[in-house]
Parts: sequence; C-alpha cells; structure tokens
Amino acid sequence: MKKLLLGLFLVFQVSVYADNYVIATKSTSLVLEAKKGERLNFIYYGKSPKNISEIYDSGIALWRDAYPTFGMNGGQENALQVIHPDGNMSLDLVYVSSSVVAKGDTETTTFTLQDKVYPFKVNLVFKAYKANDVIETWSEISHDEKKPVLLQKFASSYLPIRSGNHWITHLEGSFVNEAGVVEEQLTRGCKVLKNMDGIRNTHTSNPSFMIALDGKPSETVGDVIAGSLAWSGNYKISLDKNESNLLEIISGINETASQYSLAPKEVFSTPEMILTYSTEGKGGASRNLHKWARESKIINGTVSKDILLNSWEGVYFNVNQQNMNEMMRDFASIGGELFVMDDGWFGNKYQRNGGESSLGDWDVCVKKLPGGINGLLECAKNNKIKFGLWIEPEMTNSVSELYDKHPEWILRQTNREPSKGRGNTQLVLDLTNPKVQDFVFGVVDKLMISHQNIAYMKWDANMSLVNYGSQYLPKDKQSHLYVEFHRGLRKVLERIRSKYPNLVLQACASGGGRVNYGLLPYFDEAWTSDNTDAMQRLNIQWGTLCFYPSSIMASHVSASPNHQTGRVVPVKFRFDVAMMGRLGMEMQPKDLKEYETEYAKRAIATYKSIRPVVQQGDLYKLISPCDNSQFASLMYVASNKSRAVLFAYRTLYLKEQPSPRFILQGLDPDKSYVLNEIGNLKAGVSTISQEGKIISGKFLMTQGISLPLDKDYGSLVIELNEYKL
Ligand code: DGJ
Repeated sequence: MKKLLLGLFLVFQVSVYADNYVIATKSTSLVLEAKKGERLNFIYYGKSPKNISEIYDSGIALWRDAYPTFGMNGGQENALQVIHPDGNMSLDLVYVSSSVVAKGDTETTTFTLQDKVYPFKVNLVFKAYKANDVIETWSEISHDEKKPVLLQKFASSYLPIRSGNHWITHLEGSFVNEAGVVEEQLTRGCKVLKNMDGIRNTHTSNPSFMIALDGKPSETVGDVIAGSLAWSGNYKISLDKNESNLLEIISGINETASQYSLAPKEVFSTPEMILTYSTEGKGGASRNLHKWARESKIINGTVSKDILLNSWEGVYFNVNQQNMNEMMRDFASIGGELFVMDDGWFGNKYQRNGGESSLGDWDVCVKKLPGGINGLLECAKNNKIKFGLWIEPEMTNSVSELYDKHPEWILRQTNREPSKGRGNTQLVLDLTNPKVQDFVFGVVDKLMISHQNIAYMKWDANMSLVNYGSQYLPKDKQSHLYVEFHRGLRKVLERIRSKYPNLVLQACASGGGRVNYGLLPYFDEAWTSDNTDAMQRLNIQWGTLCFYPSSIMASHVSASPNHQTGRVVPVKFRFDVAMMGRLGMEMQPKDLKEYETEYAKRAIATYKSIRPVVQQGDLYKLISPCDNSQFASLMYVASNKSRAVLFAYRTLYLKEQPSPRFILQGLDPDKSYVLNEIGNLKAGVSTISQEGKIISGKFLMTQGISLPLDKDYGSLVIELNEYKL
C-alpha cells in the first residue's frame, strides 16, 4: 500500500511538473513552464531546490510571462514591441516547441514562441554554463509576414525577481573617473542604467549590476543575482519594482532612435544577457563571473599576460626612433616583457603630432621613425622583449589622406556640416559600410602581414557617435545605425580573430569606455581609465573587479606627481596597486630616480612570481576603498588553495585610526600557511610581524591578522604558501 501510495505520488509529481524546464547549473536552477499553446512562464531563478515541488509548495513560483510583449498585457513593461505591416501593434506569443543541445560543459535550451495570429516567431534561448553557475539568455526574432515588421523594442531578456528588500550595486562615473561603485536600495518605481554614446558604453555607467535580494549587500553572505549585457553599443537596463515588491529587470539594446525594420525571414539576434546567482554575497557572484569569463567568454582568457610599458604618458605624441629605442632598452633592463608604442607614430603627408590629424593614414611616419616598424621590432628583439602598437581604426580626421580620398566613408548627415570631435577634426567611420569594414580589418591585417612579429595592439576609440547619419544605409534604414555600427565592428573583429587568434588586443576608448562583455570575446584585456593615479585607481579597479576578472584589467604604474591629479605617491604604493591586475608601466623609465628603478626591477620580478595567482586566482574582497574606511584590501587565492596573495592599503591617515584586523577569506581552513611579505622596499627586509610564521587557514579566516599600515600610502603585499611538513 505504502508502495502504491508512493507510486501514485510520483505519477502525480511527474504530471504536475512535466511541463517544467529546468535550466540547471552546478548549484542554481532557472525554471520555466512551457505548455503548448500557452504563454511561456518564468517560474523561478535561484539556488537549486531539492525538488521542484518546493518552488510551488512555498508559494514563491513567479508565474510571469518569460518574454513579455506589448499589446495584450495592459501597461506592463515589455521586452518586445513591434508594428506589423497592417498597423497592428500587438503580439501574443505562445509556446510551440523546444530543443536542448548539450556541448561540453554547456547546455542550450531554445524555446520557440509563435504569435497566435501573425507568422511572427521568437526563439528564447538559455545557455547554461554548468560549472560556473552562469546562464546566458537572448532572443532571436523573426517573421514570415508579407512586408517588414518594425521592431520598436527588442530586449535580450526579462528577469523577474521575487519580492524582497532589493539593493542594487552598479557602476557610475565619467572620463578619468570610471567604475565608481554605487549601492542603493531599490524602492518602488523604475531605475534605469543606460548609455547613448553610440561608440563607448562604459564611461558613465556599465551594462552590469548586482541585486542583493534581502537587504544591504555583503561581500560574503546573502543571495545575489549579477547580470551583464554582452553589447558594445547603447544599452538600457530597466529595473522596475512594482506594487507587490516584485522586481522586474528588462535588459537589452537601448531602443531609443533604433527602430529596426525587420525583413521577412531575417533573424534579429539580441545580445546575450549574462546572469549568475550566488548565495555567497557579491563576492560569490564576482567569482562566478570571473571564472566563467576566463574559461568561456574572453579570448585567450586563461593565457598569462605580459608585463608591458606603454609609451603614452612617457612621451605622449613625441614618438621618435631615439625615445622608442631608449624606452625599450630601459624597460627590458628592469625585466619588462613587452613594449607598446602609443599614439603619434603614423602619418606622412599629415604627421600625427597631436589629436588634429592623420587617423586613417596607418603608415609609419618615416621622419620620426626612419627604421620603420621593422626597426622597432629589431630593437625589441635585441632587447628580448615583444613589441606592440596603438591604433584607432574606426576613426579618421578631416585632416588625413583617408578623408581626402573617402569623404563618403564617414558618419554624417549629408545636408549638414558634421560635428567634429578631438582636435576639432576627428570623425567616425561608417562601419555599416562593408568597404569601411574591409578597410578597418585591413588596418590590422596590413600591419600584421608586413610585420608578423607584432605581438599586441591597443585599439582605441575616442569619439561618440555624434553625427547620426550613415552615407551607406538607405533612407528607410537610417534608424538602424546604432545597431549596425556595432554589428559592423563585430564582423571586423571576427575576421581579425579568425586570422590572428594570438595577437593580444586591448580595448581602450578614451580610457575605460569599452569594458564590456560584448567586446571581450575579441579583446584580451581593457584599459579601465586614463586616470593612472594609484589612489584613484584603487576605486576604479575595485569597481571593475565587481564584474570583470583581474586578467583583463590593464593596470599601469605612472609617474609621480601623477599627470591627471598631481598627486605624489610613493613608488611602492603605485606598484602595489598596479600589481592587483595585469601589471604594466606608463611613463618614461629614464625619468625614474635610481631607487625607483631598483624598486621597479624588484617589483617586476615579484609580479612574475605571483602572476598566476593574481591573473587566474579567485578574488576575495576584504575591505572596500569605497566605504571611506581609509583602508582597502583584497586577496587572490589559487584554485587548489595552496597559494594566496594579499594586498592591503592605507588610503589616508587621520588621527587615532589604528589599522583594522584583516580577516582573510577563501583559504582552506584545514591547511596552514606560511606568510611572507613581498614587494618590500629593501629586498629581504620584511615589515610584518608575521614574516615566516605558520598560521592555519581557519585562524586567518576567523581571527585575521593585524598589519602595520600606520602611514599615509602604507601598502603591503603578502604571499601565503601552504605549509607542508
Ligand atoms: C586615449 C587613451 O585612453 C590613451 O591611453 C591614449 O592612448 C590616447 N588616447 C592616445 O591618443
């Protein structure tokens, strides 16, 4: 009888939940209910329950339309809004079929939704990256109507979050002040994260957020959902908290000025919205994203990054044979691995001596560099370092040979004078035009064909899309420009990557204007800001690390006084901050004082020894520089927990403010660790009382350690190695 009852129970379970689809990762589940002929329902996203019945029995099943459309839902916010050729503005999508494709660690589930009346279809796709608890979701919109359908809004995803005390963490800022962390409680109403620059989408905000579900966010505890839109263009993420305290997040390309005329059979694929769910606070969410990004999203994400010297703040536009050679020689002599020649190396008819000319004329300036790029490569080879250079291939100047030849290649309205950017001459090339795409691809291709040993390119973009008009797109498709520009860019990058998978590319856009997952599949790393002041950089890097891994974070030591802020910062502090990411330098090495050169040499050697942990380890944030605590600290831990590196900084000394205890995280409680200070000023002389001491992971993570950070600009880097008998 018991057996029979159990049998009946199981049958009942199966029949009730048979229409459920579970997009499952290692510890999380996104549950949808799909019944043929009915709308697709979003039921749950969170930690995997023991049994699906728990979601329903607890009453927290969400029952929301998984991809809400306009026209049949009253005033509800929607993800998709269209105008059919007959003028009807409604959509009523129901579930038709689904498919599941497994590949390696991923499982992709596609739900096909079909309008009840019109031959209009949406594939809603969920790709689960199981090991790292990440789910990507996007939509593919198409139709078979007789004429084009006008897409007015076309979001990537709709995400309902159960009622709670929701707090958002996101990034805000400006040029030379990027990635500031903002944390605020979400009250009823709508908050929007958006960008309309057209080219650079991460100066003022970033298409990324975290939501702490139940109160003020913590780095270590609590349920947190993180999201990031993989798009390099305009975006809009709207977070609506409704009258029942449900939070509804709609994320996608910003539809403003982007109505899209979708031809019959054409497929409009929206960018991926990346989601992760953590029960270990913000820290857990960041770690999920970092690991997933390194392993699955970023090109060559697990490859070790070279220590480089960039010439920009060292010589600015004053590039010439002598100073390039000297910089390479000096950098090699302190252990550097790669030299990058920044802006100012090109243009002959019009020399590039400032921002006023020559973009597009990508031939080496023979007056400045008579030995050409080959001469520079030769010099790099003799110094046993690699060589790279700066380009800004999507742009031109009205003073350039390119513009003289192809005025029809720039973005502009033909009946208006184009507004110009930098140097009052800069213009954006029309990447919707296949000929322009060929040209931009050719910038990289030609350089690489004639100089195969170029190891690195810094790809800059220093202008907004101010002249909204394409000379290539037809009259009725002008409103496609914001989208088509980035599709064009992506096409170019795909060609570059299929031909040059190992060329290291840095995404730069007036500093940190392009730190996004739309570009990271093509770019190995990003420049996070033109502000190189170590003190500012602490905050910028802290914000960046919320969503992006340390391996993509180009972090350069620059001169003191700093060129942006005038701040005088000790060389040790500057290095200790830059060592938190991909270490580099951005200065004239010959201007360093003797003790600074000696210090740089030791710091570079130190970084080489900790590089695998810093670039590939798991990040644990201990004390935020954004909390005005006058301290900052974080650590990286190797995945097998045998090694860790702790960074600690004093950002300001005010009277009677003793150092806090630093409670470590991420170690193995059952292992013991030997502590050693590294990156110290005088080689071999440690300043910490824990030098060489053996302390258990458990003690370090519960009682912590106290550190001698009793001066302004105090900083410490401490290595922890597993103690083995
Ligand atoms: C802006 C970048 O952010 C800088 O690092 C530098 O490369 C300049 N452009 C060069 O013009």
